[in-house]
This record gives sequence, C-alpha cells and structure tokens, in this order.
Amino acid sequence: MARLHVFEFEDLSWFPGLLRAQMTDYLVYAVRLIRGFPSYAASRLAPVLHARGQRRIVDLGSGSGGVMPEVIRALADEQGIQAGALLTDRYPHGADSAEIREEPTGRVDFHPDPVYATHVPADLHGVRTLFLSFHHFRPETAREILADAVRADSGIAIFEVTERRPLALLAVPFIPIVVLLLTPFMRPFQWSRIFFTYLLPVLPFLIFWDGLVSHLRTYSVAELEQLVAELDAEDWHWDVRRERGPGMPAACTSLVGYPRADQAPESASSTSRS
Ligand SMILES: C[S@@+](CC[C@H](N)C(=O)[O-])C[C@H]1O[C@@H](n2cnc3c(N)ncnc32)[C@H](O)[C@@H]1O
Repeated sequence: MARLHVFEFEDLSWFPGLLRAQMTDYLVYAVRLIRGFPSYAASRLAPVLHARGQRRIVDLGSGSGGVMPEVIRALADEQGIQAGALLTDRYPHGADSAEIREEPTGRVDFHPDPVYATHVPADLHGVRTLFLSFHHFRPETAREILADAVRADSGIAIFEVTERRPLALLAVPFIPIVVLLLTPFMRPFQWSRIFFTYLLPVLPFLIFWDGLVSHLRTYSVAELEQLVAELDAEDWHWDVRRERGPGMPAACTSLVGYPRADQAPESASSTSRS
C-alpha cells in the first residue's frame, strides 16, 4: 500500500487548540492499551542513551505527553537508567496534562514554548525521540529531522504503532467506540470533553480521521531505511525494525540511530529488520 500524505486535523494551524489538546489527551490513554510498549521502547532507547552517555531525552511532537512517563519508569526499573525527559511540541499544551503533573518520578517536564521538530533549538540537549509523530512529516522533512539529529550528534529514536497494512486498518472503524468508552476515565475531567464526545460527537470523528490518516502516512521499515541511506551519516549505527516486544499485542515500527564510534557493546550487531 503506497504512503498517502492526506491531511490530519491536528496539523492544521487554524484547528482549535482545545480540540487538538483533547485529541492528544486521548492518545495518552489509548496507547496504555498497548501492553508492553513502554518496556519495549525503554529497551530500544537504552543503547542510545548508553552510547551517548546521556540521561536526558528531548521528545519532539509530544502532544499531551503520550507514554513518556511510563517509558521513564521502565528505563529506571528495567534498564537501570535514571533518565529525564523534556517534552516539546509545535503546539505546546501538555503542561496542563494531569498525567504529567502527577508523574511520580518528577523527571518529565514540558517545554513551554513551541518547538518545531525540524528546528530543535541548539540549547535543548539530549537524545531525541518521536513517539507516534514521525508520520506527520513528508519524506524531505523526515529526512531533515534525521539529518539534524546527526548534525547535533544527539542520537535519535522513533516509534510508530500505526502501519499501512490492510489488517491494521481493520481496527480503525472501532476507534470511535474506544473514544466513547475511554472518555469517562480521562483526567482532568472537562465538561467540554464530555460535550464534544457525547452531545456533539466531533471528537470520535476527529480521532477516527487522524487515526486513519496516521496509518496511511506511516513509513515502512524499507522507507525508513531509504531515508537513512540518503543521509550523510555512514559513521552512525542505524537500526530499523518492525517487531512485537514482549507482551505487546501488536508490532511496532522503530528506528534508532547514534554515532557508531560510541556504539554500546550490547547492541553492536543489531542492524536488523523484521
Ligand atoms: C499524533 S500526536 C503524538 C503525540 C505524542 N507523541 C503521543 O505519543 O501521544 C503528534 C504530535 O506532533 C505534533 N507536531 C506536528 N507537527 C509538528 C512539528 N512540525 N514540530 C513539532 N511537533 C509537531 C502535533 O502537534 C501533535 O502533538
């Protein structure tokens, strides 16, 4: 299935911030349904953090924070890495997220100002991550994001749970039902969320549409490898995979990259795909 870069509501500059925030709030809860994902992401991130000697993550396109608090906990509990994360977005609103405010490690913060994934400020040091957001970028921009990580010598890790396979698309019609079921559990409680979910049900439709388009835009392993091949980064170690981590109900596509000279011993032979 060819990659289709159809519009997502989230990307429209005129799109109401309230609805955008409520859509990314939904992701915080939806991604929790993917058991094992934080542990898997932590296991993929650990070699990058080791290789860079970094304990700081700069997450791009963070929305409401997504799964980052759980990833930070998994890094500490399962990988022995006491990392912290700075969450950034082109449309920052996540500081309002109850999940982040109540995040027990206290090592996850939001950057208050807009940060474009394509122009990461030089003073934001750390391994760059993009969770569920790399598909927002067309190939030339996606390549530039990777190239900028190389220029900044930062290390990068990308995770996508959507994919362009007919089987994955079969689940998309159920998105509105999941939105209706999850909404009562979402915090902070907002009357506007109830209104736009049950009384004027635009959120189930918006989340359905952006979910569908996210699948259609997601890069395959071969396309990610092609982006990497076009970079001037032969001295970097790149590892692109589509695999199901332990306990995960479905496969996840991920890309990690870091300078080869600093390669962590435990991942020395892991240029792979599945
Ligand atoms: C699908 S959401 C993912 C949110 C979060 N990472 C998660 O896992 O729940 C994509 C996010 O990318 C952000 N985004 C889109 N274009 C961006 C850009 N050029 N620079 C930074 N963030 C961007 C959107 O505002 C949105 O919050």
